[in-house]
Amino acid sequence: MSHEPRAVSWTGTALSLIDQTALPQTLRRLDIRDVDALIDAIVRLAVRGAPAIGAAGAYGVALAVAQARRENWTDGRLADAVARLRAARPTAVNLAVCVDRAAGRIPEGLDAVLAEADAITRQDLAANRAMAEAGADWLLKRVAADRPLRVLTHCNTGALATAGIGTALGVIRELHGRGLIETVYVDETRPLLQGARLTAWELAQEGIAHKVQADAAAAATVVGGLVDAAIVGADRITRNGDTANKTGTLGIALACAHAGVPFMVAAPVSTVDLTTATGASIPIEQRGEEEVLNLIGGGITAPDGTRTRAHNPAFDVTPGTLITALVSERGVLEVSSGQLPGDHWS
Ligand code: MRU
Repeated sequence: MSHEPRAVSWTGTALSLIDQTALPQTLRRLDIRDVDALIDAIVRLAVRGAPAIGAAGAYGVALAVAQARRENWTDGRLADAVARLRAARPTAVNLAVCVDRAAGRIPEGLDAVLAEADAITRQDLAANRAMAEAGADWLLKRVAADRPLRVLTHCNTGALATAGIGTALGVIRELHGRGLIETVYVDETRPLLQGARLTAWELAQEGIAHKVQADAAAAATVVGGLVDAAIVGADRITRNGDTANKTGTLGIALACAHAGVPFMVAAPVSTVDLTTATGASIPIEQRGEEEVLNLIGGGITAPDGTRTRAHNPAFDVTPGTLITALVSERGVLEVSSGQLPGDHWS
């Protein structure tokens, strides 16, 4: 049914990544053979999306172990490399969780670390399928429309961002597979255009009808009655259901609450951080000014000058009170009705 690409795969000697900075113009892979090359790929967003950087991080621990052997590293140097990898991006909890899981197997040797990374990848793939079905079932009950649905999504949450069919985009793929998608409004997702470049690319490959829109159009699309639901992914979900996701998500949730449109978050349990009570404690990645001030492909967005400054938080936090449904491989929690991850998924 689907042609989803494998964003992260292990070749036997290297970590192979789709270079997401080159899409949609060019589909090329990067062969990553050492930890610093992987950290650079994660920071540049050559590999991105919470579950995908989790899987890449786990394989990165294997790269570190292999490199330590090759180059006769001390235990301290290996621990330092693993710590730098774990901290390459701060908001998506999957990176730290998956690096810790893989690093926990280092005393058993390289094969055990690789087995853990493979298990993380398989679990994410299975979680994608389970949440796609659960999310589609919930939405169809909730919307109860006798026609295909119009949905809005933000950023990229598809195969490029995971080990499988995707989280929010997996729910959309599932609905499409059932013949129940009319169209998908895809926010372009400034400043790095994950929606326009990556989500539209995946939807085009699957033959799913979609329209790319400026992020600033999203609120009116929702309030104007053009969509039946918004479906987004997550980078970290706290005990009370507060959810960090790509900048711009909060505005969509507010518009949905105003208009009475269901706002669904789809994410695997590996994105749920039960050690953190509320969204106020989620570390939000601040990225470089140049991403906002320069256009991808060339050109500037604001007057060039030494005084020009940009504010570039990569994520925002949507309060759980605005989230109609949180879908994971363990089923659906109606967070705004009081079903909190901390009470149900401990
Ligand atoms: O900065 P990015 O592109 O890594 O941000 C990705 C997102 O915000 C996604 O919505 C999130 O990671 C969920 S991916 C299944």
